[in-house]
Amino acid sequence: MPTRSPRSTRTNGHATGGATQAARKRRGGSGGRAAPQRTEVPRAPASRPVSPRAAVDNVLAVLRADHDRVLELFARFDKLKSNGPQKAQLVERICDELELHTRVEDELFYPSVRPAIGDDDLMDEAAVEHESSKTLIEQLRGMKPGDNRYDAIVTVLGEYVKHHVVEEQDVMFPKVKATDLDLVALGRAVKTRKRQLKGDAGVQGLLGLAAFPGMMIP
Ligand SMILES: [Fe+2]
Ligand SMILES: [Fe+2]
Repeated sequence: MPTRSPRSTRTNGHATGGATQAARKRRGGSGGRAAPQRTEVPRAPASRPVSPRAAVDNVLAVLRADHDRVLELFARFDKLKSNGPQKAQLVERICDELELHTRVEDELFYPSVRPAIGDDDLMDEAAVEHESSKTLIEQLRGMKPGDNRYDAIVTVLGEYVKHHVVEEQDVMFPKVKATDLDLVALGRAVKTRKRQLKGDAGVQGLLGLAAFPGMMIP
């Protein structure tokens, strides 16, 4: 289970809840840990002008767009009244979006930023939150609308996700932004991996992944 209650940030995905403020205070300063050595991720060339295309491909923008999309799906769920097929489809889409997003973060984003930001506590908590979400998604995969606790599980999953998004966007992303990681190259690798996981990567996918030869793709 997450190490802090997600209820503290249930207002919306961009709000700054008490938990986040506490986390910021707790994580203030250098983070206090030596960064493990790593070499795989390209570093951003100094002072390179940012094109509109590159801004869109920045990994933080890519992940924010995912967050916005899934939070919007949870908001739609909150408005649904009946237990018909519409609810089943919506929850299936929520689960699909979350699994895809979590997977690319686990495979590409987290392994790149963990050594760069030097805050293992933050990264460990985020990884535990991913595991908690996966457990709830697995439960939902075996259920249908109207089943006992179906709505409750979706609601709790939504609360976890809202909390997690605030932690990533308000605490983790600023730390990532302060590093010299090539966030555009990383964003393109994330987009490519998402396409690949959806089954339509093709030649472009292979080219994109070539930017991260050291990455381990299961
Ligand atoms: Fe995320
Ligand atoms: Fe995440």
